[in-house]
Amino acid sequence: MCGIIGYVGREEAAPILLDGLSRMEYRGYDSAGIAVRSEDAGLQVRKSRGRLQVLSDMVHGGADLKGTLGIGHTRWATHGEPNDINAHPHVSENGKIALVHNGIIENYLELKEHLIKQGVKFQSDTDSEVVAQLLEFHYHECGNMLEAVGRCLRRIEGSYAFGIICADYPNALIAARKDSPLILGYGKDGNFIASDVTAIIKHTRDVVYMDDGEIAVVTADHIDVFDDEMIPVEKTHSHVDWDVSSAEKGGYPHFMLKEIFEQPEAIRKTISPRIRDGRVVLDDLHLSEEYVQGLSRIFIVACGSSYHVGMVSKYTWEKLLRRPVEVCLASEFRYGEPLVDEKSLVIVISQSGETLDTMAAMREAKRLGGRTLAIVNVVGSSIAREADDVLYTWAGPEIAVATTKAYSTQLALMDLVGLYLGDLLGTVSSQEYQAVIEAMGRLPDQMQQVLDHVETIQYHACQYFNHDSIFFIGRNLDYAMGLEGSLKLKEISYIHSEAYASGELKHGTISLIEPGTLVVALGTYAPLFDKAMSNVVEVKARGAEVLAITTERFQEKMEKTADSTVVVPDTHAIVQPSLGVVPLQLFAYYVALQRGCDIDKPRNLAKSVTVE
Ligand code: F6R
Repeated sequence: MCGIIGYVGREEAAPILLDGLSRMEYRGYDSAGIAVRSEDAGLQVRKSRGRLQVLSDMVHGGADLKGTLGIGHTRWATHGEPNDINAHPHVSENGKIALVHNGIIENYLELKEHLIKQGVKFQSDTDSEVVAQLLEFHYHECGNMLEAVGRCLRRIEGSYAFGIICADYPNALIAARKDSPLILGYGKDGNFIASDVTAIIKHTRDVVYMDDGEIAVVTADHIDVFDDEMIPVEKTHSHVDWDVSSAEKGGYPHFMLKEIFEQPEAIRKTISPRIRDGRVVLDDLHLSEEYVQGLSRIFIVACGSSYHVGMVSKYTWEKLLRRPVEVCLASEFRYGEPLVDEKSLVIVISQSGETLDTMAAMREAKRLGGRTLAIVNVVGSSIAREADDVLYTWAGPEIAVATTKAYSTQLALMDLVGLYLGDLLGTVSSQEYQAVIEAMGRLPDQMQQVLDHVETIQYHACQYFNHDSIFFIGRNLDYAMGLEGSLKLKEISYIHSEAYASGELKHGTISLIEPGTLVVALGTYAPLFDKAMSNVVEVKARGAEVLAITTERFQEKMEKTADSTVVVPDTHAIVQPSLGVVPLQLFAYYVALQRGCDIDKPRNLAKSVTVE
């Protein structure tokens, strides 16, 4: 989703801004722009619809814009179509104030009407321009930019991360945040603001995470942070220890492929420190045995692929905990009057830790008295900071919009947490506990085994990439895994696809199966393999072509019926989806590749969805 960078220092700002924006391209955007202030030219603003390269070419890589203070933005349209005018930065009518904004100003129409009555003329259809104009209004009123920002923030409703520069303030940029991430970066030759650490990691690893309601005044040598009453705030600095190479392709044609191949290592990093002497150790989880015993409800709340992790975990946790587990889409949960109380544990899963619906759902759960546990990848992200407990997936930065390694590490971590809670509840036998632990230990190597046979999937992708509609079917854990396989395929290859619980097909959807329809049949869940097979026979009888995913144990049986079969190693049923999902990710990738799609930046999608 939208990306913000700002710089003030001793270097030329424009090339730094363009480079920072390029590192946030993965988030998804439709236009980009920068504003740089110089002594001679005042505020210079350039923006353009389309790829960042268009903007970069327009300003010759930044060489055209002199000045050491500036802001930049990649926009993902919400209010107003993606075009040059709606792109950020937005500039106030007198040309003195430029602003970039992430988030949504909910009362923008009311404010716009008010300003129009004052004679202000608007250029764009955006909610963000309203704030630029409102700032000019208040600046004119009080003559002090910081005060004007404070007055403006008191009038706007909604979510925001702002980067603001003013021609009258040659040495400072102002930042403000509410419900949209913003970090402050302390560099050697200047300081930064950014919505995403990847934008500035090349320059600094010394960062401060802004909190809701805070305003920062950033100069080349100093950063002052104030709360919403303009009282100075002492902030804690964090060190970003990401490996810069994680945000580079390292020889792979796409981030997605690189991240698929990073999964064994990512899983290792996530689980190894948490398994000691054959036991799950979760140092960061502060749930007493008494609390867990007294739990009345367990919710798992998330969006998209993270929700699919929740779907898998519902099956595995109900086996391990013998308690009902409710999985909810965050966007539904937050407005659905959920039955959360003091005895409820609400697990929120989020790679980015910034998904607005998930964040709002978590706040709602807290408001209702529930205890929240966040499973998050991005360290220091908003969800991680607000949850009662947080467990990090150590997947490293995930750049491709379509998640792969974050999904896998979430799944592995949820298995560990399930095992841990099952043990506290006394609902897991010691044999099963040990069997799952052993299976988890083998997982990275077995995953590598699947990746070593990538050419099989490449072959099947070449065979099937021309289909217009693809069904994923399976039972129990295979059904939950199919949801993710189907989402991966549709988001990057744009093929229509649906995932169905095999047994449900005959209640309607089977009418769509006709000669030549491709069905990806998942048959890795051993307890229901025979049932799953009968559904394969059903779709075959209606002319479907079947690409099956199964395990070594069932290979022979499956090959007798399916047209093509991909085999993954056998493991414990609870861990099996972690292996089964890998061919599905690879299938989606190679199908999208055959279709010539923009794999790392699929249309209309954003990496971190910070709007409702
Ligand atoms: C799909 C995908 C999305 C995210 C969803 C939630 O490949 O990446 O469906 O899973 O937007 O994002 P997080 O996990 O950051 O909350």
